[in-house]
Amino acid sequence: MAHGRPVHREFSQLCPSEPGSLLDRVRNVVGLGSGTLLSDNANISVLPLGDERVMCLTETTKSSVLIDPETLDTIGKFHYTDRLWGLLQTTHPVVTGTELLTLLPDIFRRGHRVVRMAAGSNERKVIGRVHCRGGHAPGWVHSFAVTENYIVVPEMPLRYSVAGVLKSQLTPWYLFDWLPESGSYMHIICRFSGKTVASVEIPPFMALHFINAYEQGDAIIADCCEYYADPSVIKALALHRLRSPAMNKDAFPDARVARFRIPQDGNRPPMGELETVLDPVVHSWGVEMPSINPAYQGKEYRYVYACGARRPCNFLNSLTKIDLVEKEAKNWQELGSVPSEPFFVARPGGLMKMTNVWRGCDLQFSIVSTMEGDGYALLLDAVTFEEIARVRLPYGLPYGFHGCWIPENV
Ligand SMILES: [Fe+2]
Repeated sequence: MAHGRPVHREFSQLCPSEPGSLLDRVRNVVGLGSGTLLSDNANISVLPLGDERVMCLTETTKSSVLIDPETLDTIGKFHYTDRLWGLLQTTHPVVTGTELLTLLPDIFRRGHRVVRMAAGSNERKVIGRVHCRGGHAPGWVHSFAVTENYIVVPEMPLRYSVAGVLKSQLTPWYLFDWLPESGSYMHIICRFSGKTVASVEIPPFMALHFINAYEQGDAIIADCCEYYADPSVIKALALHRLRSPAMNKDAFPDARVARFRIPQDGNRPPMGELETVLDPVVHSWGVEMPSINPAYQGKEYRYVYACGARRPCNFLNSLTKIDLVEKEAKNWQELGSVPSEPFFVARPGGLMKMTNVWRGCDLQFSIVSTMEGDGYALLLDAVTFEEIARVRLPYGLPYGFHGCWIPENV
């Protein structure tokens, strides 16, 4: 308000659509290179760090902010005490309970530093480095996955545009170039030694969110919500586009649950495999904002919970529970409603045996915005995917990105 204009730039405004004068370009490049023009709007992820602290963040390092989980008040910036210089980070670190694992992109050296930060610490330590193999810049990594022993780093052909930054001009894909000819790869890093144990070419893909990964024999399985190698999803939520009268009803691109099989023995077979896990008709044409029972993080698992987009619609308008084994789905939808990312809420007591005493149940929790502009918190039974309760909110909530469930005793 004090400046009468935005001081920091959001994702789609990191470069101007028109480069302007030479001086404007120089100012822009200096602003991006020094970080002063980068956003500090921590509006993407919310992470309990496993040490009673809760962090909000986006893709810039300076956006890391601590909040009070009770009041949601901002406590202040999260200050890293290490000397790992770097302006960018992935928006979806993996928190295991004992540590946070994340990636720091290295645009000019075509790679990512893989780092860990122990619970209770503010100091990140480098585990290893991923050397991207295609193009001249690293692939954008919005999220990645871990197994019990490995970190799975995807390299998709949506790459940071070094030329776009230096020319100070947005590309057709904001700050990225879509370069399918540069190849797609999957890198497997040992969580303990930091060594790259496999780096395998895979079919072209476009994914924002990895669901989970696990070890199976001599291969790594990694699942994600995948857009049939079509990067248009990064434009799908542009406000002017959603508001456009020319918008057709299929505004959100088709997506599937895709499974990568990555051999760990290097080059046999020469490529990793990619398959559609189940026919998207079963869960809906779109699938995004996935979650799982966190007890299965990094382990073989069966169920995925996610938002779906049931046609015809112009937004993610359903919830789905996908059974990866039986290749079935249970779906929840209410006409005109838009649910948030679903959160898995484990019943207290963990793996208690069923008795004749009511044992409670695992839940799915989602905030739903209705066609009337108000909203409610929705509880579904995680087994049957049937509604247990809803609590109407006295106000409407705008559509958000990610959130989390924090048990009271954490
Ligand atoms: Fe995300």
